[in-house]
Amino acid sequence: MVRDVLRMGDPLLLQRAQPVQAFGTPELADLLQDMRDTMAALDGAGLAAPQIGVSLQVVIFGVGVNPRYPDAEAVPYTELLNPVLEPVGDAIEEGWEGCLSVPGMRGLVPRWQHLRYRGFTPSGEPVDRTVSGFHARVVQHECDHLVGVLYPMRIRDLRQFGFSEALFLGQSLADD
Ligand code: NI
Repeated sequence: MVRDVLRMGDPLLLQRAQPVQAFGTPELADLLQDMRDTMAALDGAGLAAPQIGVSLQVVIFGVGVNPRYPDAEAVPYTELLNPVLEPVGDAIEEGWEGCLSVPGMRGLVPRWQHLRYRGFTPSGEPVDRTVSGFHARVVQHECDHLVGVLYPMRIRDLRQFGFSEALFLGQSLADD
């Protein structure tokens, strides 16, 4: 079921999410189904459970070859629970981000360029990946939602934050 996505200003988006305690449950399957439906309906690159009002450490993300991200490499569709992030090296990269909770806007956000992330699948299998670039960015963005951080809070130069249509005149960009 497609759920309403909370927008910036809602205090629920500023909460720390709780770890998932039990894997493979029907409740978890229902939550993930709603998250998949909602992300697909809004054509998003990722979604975190707190964005639909569920304060659990669950994120989903994935980007196919998408005309909206002509320069972005594909990111495999992933469902990640109780994630732990760790930078690999200290390189920081600035890149444009949007968020379904901040519709219509984009900002230039610094992220670790190389990232190791660990966590679990919904059935409790371990996940352990080391990634770079856009994949690393998407994971950091989604996992920020689990600690109550929205991307505008990380922008270093607020002149690089604005409405997509004004920032990217002539280009059509949807929200992610
Ligand atoms: Ni977001």
